[in-house]
Amino acid sequence: MMAPKIAVLTSGGDAPGMNAAIRAVVRRGINKGYEVCGIQRGYAGLFNGNQLVELGIGSVADIIHRGGTILLTARAPEMFQAENQDKAAAFLKAEGVDGLVIIGGEGTFRGAVTLEKRGIKTICVPGTIDNDINGTELTIGFDTAVNTILEAVNRLRDTATSHERIFILEVMGRQNGYLALAAGLAGGAESILVPEIEYDLDQVSSRLLRGIKRQKAHSIILVAEGAADVYKVKKEIKRRIDAEIRVTVLGHIQRGGSPSAVDRLLGSRMGSAAVDLLHEGKRGLFTAVRGETITAKPLEECFETTKPFPEDLYKLALVLSR
Ligand code: F6P
Repeated sequence: MMAPKIAVLTSGGDAPGMNAAIRAVVRRGINKGYEVCGIQRGYAGLFNGNQLVELGIGSVADIIHRGGTILLTARAPEMFQAENQDKAAAFLKAEGVDGLVIIGGEGTFRGAVTLEKRGIKTICVPGTIDNDINGTELTIGFDTAVNTILEAVNRLRDTATSHERIFILEVMGRQNGYLALAAGLAGGAESILVPEIEYDLDQVSSRLLRGIKRQKAHSIILVAEGAADVYKVKKEIKRRIDAEIRVTVLGHIQRGGSPSAVDRLLGSRMGSAAVDLLHEGKRGLFTAVRGETITAKPLEECFETTKPFPEDLYKLALVLSR
């Protein structure tokens, strides 16, 4: 008898730890008696009918420590068209795929819902550096990205101290400030600008001035990309205080790199949990972190509301960075 078939794909922006999740899907899947296949280039691979790649135990060797995704990924706005959703579902049915594990962010989850509606059993795994998926405390890739930003902050501090300058560092996160907040708190940034909280550049400037008066050698302002235009922020602060200011935009450096232990563990646990859920006959769910455990939630939950912003941590950052 032929083994039942499951498939795995990654979609949207890549995130460190996705490979650990792919590895876990493959090895847990084989362990449970499935044939496991990969779909390359995310949803585009589905509606374009790309050939499935067979994933054996050895195909995922030597990837747990690698950033990016061995399955390749793509932004696929075309997946919002019903015609492509039909094509994608028809392709999976023709290939005899019994269940699909989809790794990605919120946009990716929306694609999964359209496949569910067409009879494809799906389990999603949250993978995005933004950590912006409602219903899970953590997403795969966030921890590594925060550590990458911290590394940049450390380096900027060296040069900022030597020149007694102010640095403005822009980080990713779309319309969310989780990356900026976590890195700002952990890195001791003097100010953190996030889209979720209104900021006042007079206040930011007076905090900087207070530091300068105390002979503080440098200051770092972390700005989430969705909060403000860093060059305008620089101009506005310069208008208020007489100091040397430099801007750094970290960009896609935040998305690459070897995944941290946290992301390898998360990818391994979530990928494996996704297979277990399919095996138990569950579908239309995403894996989520709650405290120490990996749970499963209905896909709709992540669209109900935006993930609450931890204002308490933001206030703490303000108190601690004096
Ligand atoms: O969602 C992950 C993310 O890195 C965001 O933080 C960022 O705004 C976006 O992707 C960048 O997308 P792209 O790689 O398509 O330019």
